[in-house]
Amino acid sequence: MATLATETAAPGSMSIDPLDVSRPELYRDDTWHAPFRELRARGGIHYHDNTAFGPFWSITTYKPLVQVESLPDIFSSEAGGITIADMAEGDIKMPMFIAMDRPKHTDQRRTVAPAFTPSEMVRMTDNIRMRTAEILDSLPVGQEFDWVDRVSIELTTQMLALLFDFPWEERRKLTYWSDWAGDIEIAKDPVRKEERRQILFECAAYFGNLWQGKVGKEPTPDLISMMIHSDAMNHMDQMEFLGNLILLIVGGNDTTRNSMSAYAWGLNQFPEERAKLEANPGLIGNATQEIIRWQTPLAHMRRTATQDTELDGHKIREGDKLGLWYISANRDESVFADADSIIVDRENARRHLAFGHGIHRCVGARLAELQIGVLMEEMAKRRLRVNVTGEPERVAACFVHGYKKMAVELSHY
Ligand code: HEM
Repeated sequence: MATLATETAAPGSMSIDPLDVSRPELYRDDTWHAPFRELRARGGIHYHDNTAFGPFWSITTYKPLVQVESLPDIFSSEAGGITIADMAEGDIKMPMFIAMDRPKHTDQRRTVAPAFTPSEMVRMTDNIRMRTAEILDSLPVGQEFDWVDRVSIELTTQMLALLFDFPWEERRKLTYWSDWAGDIEIAKDPVRKEERRQILFECAAYFGNLWQGKVGKEPTPDLISMMIHSDAMNHMDQMEFLGNLILLIVGGNDTTRNSMSAYAWGLNQFPEERAKLEANPGLIGNATQEIIRWQTPLAHMRRTATQDTELDGHKIREGDKLGLWYISANRDESVFADADSIIVDRENARRHLAFGHGIHRCVGARLAELQIGVLMEEMAKRRLRVNVTGEPERVAACFVHGYKKMAVELSHY
């Protein structure tokens, strides 16, 4: 296999490490495939000693990634946070259970888990279907529009507004806050970092008010009320409560949104697979998993070693940071044959790691699958096809992996 040549930047500037997969332009330009392929070919575990996020280990193949996630006491989510961007002094500290270790994580996860049980999914299905149908019926056929804005953002934001009993007319605030919260590139820019701090405070204050409005009232079936009336909540302070709310907004927003956009873009890249799906809507469940695998809406999560240890012969030291690259493990050729292709009836599509693995595995996975599946079913019912009319605009970041804009035109088949 060809190796990547070392690119050299203009004289006087820093040379670029071609294997540094934290560079935002790789995701903006969709050129991340080659460096990850190379990292996997070199054994899957690699130490980067000089990146804009400082030194870190990259875990890029399936097996060691699962191994790290299976040892949460050695590889902590709490010690350094969940992205390869370090927290700096002065950052707002809103504790969230995604960035906690046991036993606190277990307690707090339990608080929101009842909102995502199979029976809750059944309860929500009609509503999701109705809203999806409404949005699809409002779209023009044979006329260009932005799929990200009109479909992906609108559907996911409506879902979150319902989950939180959030004021309906103001629901786009959820998108706005989520975009700011999920942008880790901001950590490198002091001005935008301050702006982000202000915006997250505004978000916290808004949810603080919603919370106050529900304290001491009869329980309602939304997440805020559910958290207020849970036992674990009694031990949470206000920042923790808000941290967990923001976690749910960000967790449920960009990720599902970018899977819905990947459905449009991905099937456009593989017209034969799209034809297979159009001919057999029974494949929608499997295709949902396959599209989530192919997109991998969160490129990585981070762990921090709590002790000296060994991973596949590599010496990891206490305090070392590890980037778990789901985006690469989901393209691991030893697990997924022809991994770069969407194959709607791929037998092991469900084995993907886009939701993570182990105690932190995504608590909202069922809801995400339901929303994406219903979107595909409603498209199939109408015999509607999305034709992407140009290259989409992508997010320039190594955490949220997705699309900002995607011009499309619908047609009937
Ligand atoms: C955790 C991905 C949708 C809420 C996670 C993790 C990933 C992930 C990678 C971390 C797993 C780990 O560290 O092992 C995704 C993807 C989604 C999605 C790809 C859509 C396709 C959602 C939705 C919600 C949600 C719809 C809720 C509305 C959460 C929460 C956690 C989490 C609360 C923390 C779980 C814990 O730490 O125990 N998700 N997610 N996610 N996700 Fe999702």
